Amino acid sequence: MRKYRIKGGIPLSGAVDISGAKNAVVAILPAALLADEPCRVENIPNIKDVAVSLKLLESLGAKVTHIDDNTVEIDPTTVGTCEVNDDLARNMRASYYFIGALLGKHGRARVPMPGGCWFGERPIDLHLKGFRALGAEVTPLENDCIEVCSNQLMGNSIYLDTVSVGATVNIMLAAVRAMGMTIIENAAKEPHIVDLANFLNTMGADIRGAGTDVIKIRGTQYLHSATYSIIPDQIEAGTYMAMAVATKGDVLVRNVIPKHLESITAKLIEMGAIVEEMDDAVRVRCSDTLQHCNIKTMPHPGFPTDMQPQIAVLLSTAQGVSHITEGIWENRYRYVDELRLMGADIEVRGNTATITGVPQLTAADVMAVDLRAGAAMVIAGLAAEGTTEIGNIRYIERGYENIVNKLTRLGAEISLIEVPDEA
Ligand code: UD1
Repeated sequence: MRKYRIKGGIPLSGAVDISGAKNAVVAILPAALLADEPCRVENIPNIKDVAVSLKLLESLGAKVTHIDDNTVEIDPTTVGTCEVNDDLARNMRASYYFIGALLGKHGRARVPMPGGCWFGERPIDLHLKGFRALGAEVTPLENDCIEVCSNQLMGNSIYLDTVSVGATVNIMLAAVRAMGMTIIENAAKEPHIVDLANFLNTMGADIRGAGTDVIKIRGTQYLHSATYSIIPDQIEAGTYMAMAVATKGDVLVRNVIPKHLESITAKLIEMGAIVEEMDDAVRVRCSDTLQHCNIKTMPHPGFPTDMQPQIAVLLSTAQGVSHITEGIWENRYRYVDELRLMGADIEVRGNTATITGVPQLTAADVMAVDLRAGAAMVIAGLAAEGTTEIGNIRYIERGYENIVNKLTRLGAEISLIEVPDEA
């Protein structure tokens, strides 16, 4: 088993460059299938979910050319099948974006139900409701696969009962070449929704209102080539901000859009950190004992659920009692058992966690139970007394580019180790 070994207690200092956003790139790579010409995508993070997305594109017949470490060119004109590879797709939640993209371009997609992190039930009923509203027929198949097809998608008004990032993206992908106007109401407003709309509009699509709760998409018959650079990752940035605070360090987090970080910044300041915003960077410092606070996760612009485990680590050593209410996922506290092994005092009832601050976390052997839970364990390891080992790091590699190198450059003592499985 591969693990991270971290010697805790070292304040991080220096600068870190944030990579392109995972949740934007996993939508934008399948979106390239919609074009009638090759597209170039820049600022792509080197993470596992990108590797899987690129393999999925190739398995459909698209030509993928690596221009440099963070740039690829995708030629979708060579696509020869609309059947998405089972093993690859089940590795990654966002493989469901291939449904919208293939349906939008070719009128047909056969896709296995997606994999990814487990935070309880993760239905895709709203995605399917959207496809049906555009005139597609949705057929469940054996082996937990679905087929979605249509001779001609027609624009329609679609109200999402729940604000869903995935459904908003998938409906945008399917509607972009449909006949007429599609209106998505109660749409998600996350930065990656805006990024996807900007990419598609660069290809000649007509999408307005992305970033608000009403998105209007007028169908377009031809989408031309485009060169597009992915936005910085809001959650990776938030994670390094939390690391700076947890280690009582002083870190310049570069290549960010400070506006995207406002809900995270506000909470760090409430806890006693100093956050200085610049044009495309934030400097995060902390020297005092952290103060407790209450957090509720919500759709953007609320506090992101994908920062919930990381912030829980900070609250574990804050003075007083804090409450976290998880407003998106039914089961996003599986990391709590691991954090308790490091001395945290956390009680979970339903969707609320009550955290009583302890003076210090202590090192332990822990597991990454999912991507952001894994990031939380890294933060805890950096802050704890002693040497922590974290297993299951494949989850962390799904979403954090070069985390060992980035942290080493900030002065952390972290290494990737191999231990025999039976150990
Ligand atoms: C995306 C993010 C994920 C983040 C989540 C919430 C990507 C690739 N992943 O996930 O990191 O944690 O947003 O910010 O961008 N729901 C339904 N029916 C549906 C779809 C969703 O009931 O058809 C519910 C979900 O169970 C959940 C809520 O809607 O309670 C929000 O889910 P959604 O925004 O769709 O999350 P994802 O797109 O899967």
